[in-house]
Amino acid sequence: MKVAIIGSGYVGLVAAACFAELGNDVICVDNDAAKLAALQAGCTPIHEQYLPELLARHRGTRLAFSASVTDAVRASAVVFIAVGTPPAESGEADLSYVEAVAHDIAQGLNGYKVIIEKSTVPVYTCEWIRRVITMNTPQAFDVVSNPEFLREGTAVRDFFYPDRIVVGADSPRAAEVLRRLYAPLTSGAYYQAAMVARPEGARVPPPLVVTDSNSAELIKHASNAFLAMKISFINAVANLCDAVGADVQQVREGIGLDLRIGRSFFNPGLGYGGSCFPKDLLAFRAVARESGYDFGLLTEVIKINQEQRRLFIKKIRSALWTLRGKRLGVLGLAFKGGTDDIRESPAMEIVKALVGESCDVCVYDPAATANARACLGDSVRYANTPYEAATGAHALLILTDWDEFSGLDFAQLAAVMKHRLIIDGRNLYDPSTVAASGFMYYSIGRPVAQPEPRLSTVPAARPSTPQGAEHTAQARPEEVSAPQG
Ligand code: UGA
Repeated sequence: MKVAIIGSGYVGLVAAACFAELGNDVICVDNDAAKLAALQAGCTPIHEQYLPELLARHRGTRLAFSASVTDAVRASAVVFIAVGTPPAESGEADLSYVEAVAHDIAQGLNGYKVIIEKSTVPVYTCEWIRRVITMNTPQAFDVVSNPEFLREGTAVRDFFYPDRIVVGADSPRAAEVLRRLYAPLTSGAYYQAAMVARPEGARVPPPLVVTDSNSAELIKHASNAFLAMKISFINAVANLCDAVGADVQQVREGIGLDLRIGRSFFNPGLGYGGSCFPKDLLAFRAVARESGYDFGLLTEVIKINQEQRRLFIKKIRSALWTLRGKRLGVLGLAFKGGTDDIRESPAMEIVKALVGESCDVCVYDPAATANARACLGDSVRYANTPYEAATGAHALLILTDWDEFSGLDFAQLAAVMKHRLIIDGRNLYDPSTVAASGFMYYSIGRPVAQPEPRLSTVPAARPSTPQGAEHTAQARPEEVSAPQG
């Protein structure tokens, strides 16, 4: 099928590459000349697994880039709108880009086409697009909502292995076009030679759910809001665990084994960030408000999320006493592992707060350093490895759940750090393992783990004294790394 995709951000570019992989001829449009030139020259502007390979495979054959919406629309049977919907001051999504694109699409219509809304938008957006196009052209067309559920970092995998494909079509003709477009996935044919291995538990072939367009738009917002609610819920439980001395990992396991609840998206941490959840929750709440419904639950979800970062700073303070002048190694700046995206990143907010408290901060991130540097400038130091970030530090903070950070070499850290203290905002470690390596370990919703005094510090011959008392009394303070200023 001939496909036009307007907007080459995360959603548009991944969709363009993946639809090309499914055998379609795709034109990807963007009005950012520098970005287009980079894409045409073979660059991949975002850090996304499998995307460089897909772009290299299809660029110049099934995948072209263009600055002209009208030309792309003329050449295509389906047109995806995948432009940004940033939040306005009120929290509502700013739909001016979508409206402008709808105008341009109308200019290019030269026969029946299906216009597919893929940006995350409030309910009734399809109706508005329909109205704008109708006012600007006599040509026949349909508007469909086809929300995406891709996660940054695993977007290509999520495209090929979705839990479901939602098609919000108000006409059978348009629904049929979308069914054909997704047939390689829904028939299972694509999986015979898929470039991305099937993830554990993936639903293959995925179900395609046809709804009306208003319902599809709500499905997208409600899905993100529900996931954000799960995260805020477990973070609130973690805070309670901190207060009563319980272990949130055990509590999570006990709750999550209930199949009705489940364990996914139930990891406590620093709260959700990124370009989607924070913005979408505000937009969803604004949609509800505008429709006369006060969705107060969302306000609480947002409040818990914001508080989570503040509580983490408090935890750092409780571990270090005073912050001014403390040297801190920071692992992670991206809003989550696997991406270079720092938008609404809890890590960035925490780093800025620590700089504001006059801490000497040295940061390391496997992919997001360039983006962070543009924002943090020389207010922090930048390291090339986790160990460089930790060198001379009073404490090491883990702020992003990169895989690389769950396999740190504690002996190497101990050799370079000033104090053996780790404050983990992502619960990447088993506390007893860290403590056994001689570190004091703070995490989220779990008791602080203290290192045992090391046997080597105990004088050999004095067997009459009770062992526990002996160890405590004889351990040299520097061996157990008391976290002082
Ligand atoms: C999210 C949704 O997961 C996608 O389904 C959706 O398509 C996308 O938004 C969108 O609307 O475009 P994304 O923002 O890429 O995807 O990231 P997630 O993996 O959902 O993570 C969001 C935030 O929640 C991250 O900061 C992450 O660290 C945090 N998180 C996630 C937790 O704190 N705990 C968890 O258990 C899971």
